Amino acid sequence: MKIFVLTGAGVSAESGLGTFRDKDGVWTQYDLNEVATPEGFARNPALVRAFYNARRENLAGAVANAAHDALARLEAGLAARGGALFLCTQNVDDLHERAGSQRVIHMHGELAVSRCHACQATWPDTAPLTAEIVCEACGREGAARPHIVWFGEIPLYMEEIEDALSEADLFVSIGTSGSVYPAAGFVEMARAMGVPTCEINLEPSANAYVFDEKLYGPASETVPAWVERVLTQG
Ligand code: OAD
Repeated sequence: MKIFVLTGAGVSAESGLGTFRDKDGVWTQYDLNEVATPEGFARNPALVRAFYNARRENLAGAVANAAHDALARLEAGLAARGGALFLCTQNVDDLHERAGSQRVIHMHGELAVSRCHACQATWPDTAPLTAEIVCEACGREGAARPHIVWFGEIPLYMEEIEDALSEADLFVSIGTSGSVYPAAGFVEMARAMGVPTCEINLEPSANAYVFDEKLYGPASETVPAWVERVLTQG
């Protein structure tokens, strides 16, 4: 059994990391055009760096929850049965890794990685981003940014993702509102290839009508119960 799981902010909500579009979500408090676009970074790099520095600080204190733990168990359990989990996340946190997931595809980048906006070199980094950072690869000062896919930029690993979708026996979307493409279109792609689909979310997402199966409730409860079912019933 090959399972493709797509996760979104809802899987980390109970770890205290805010979602984006819920009441009090990040995009109700900040203008995404100012902090999550290349144009915003060109206009005011200090504001953008401060926004992501605060998110790095939040992440440092966060702990993986039962949903992350269950997905790590699913990866190991499927592998032991000759199957595989393809875990693709829109999240830039590293809570899947901290829970023990071995292979995580971060299609929107990673908060704990910095990138040179000039030469695209990346490096692991949890310290605050500043204008004084000098890129070790190209020597440019002032171009350090978070390794995060901003609006208007192309998500990472798309070829690998499309291959995995085409090989999957099941597509499962967890904790995402289904508002941001291309991730929001994965369910349609899976459906078009005849792959069964399941949505696990707090409430019906924008794409709920497309899914074959739907499980609603907090991820810390629904995901462990679903993983248990998959690993016991196959
Ligand atoms: P959203 O904030 O758009 O959606 C979060 C979803 O999680 C909503 O449908 C909630 O109902 C659900 N949710 C909230 N708490 C939950 C819980 N405890 N258990 C289960 N579900 C819960 O976040 P995403 O869909 O991940 O991009 O957003 C997609 C992208 O938009 C993000 O990756 C980010 C953002 O702009 C970048 O930063 C590049």
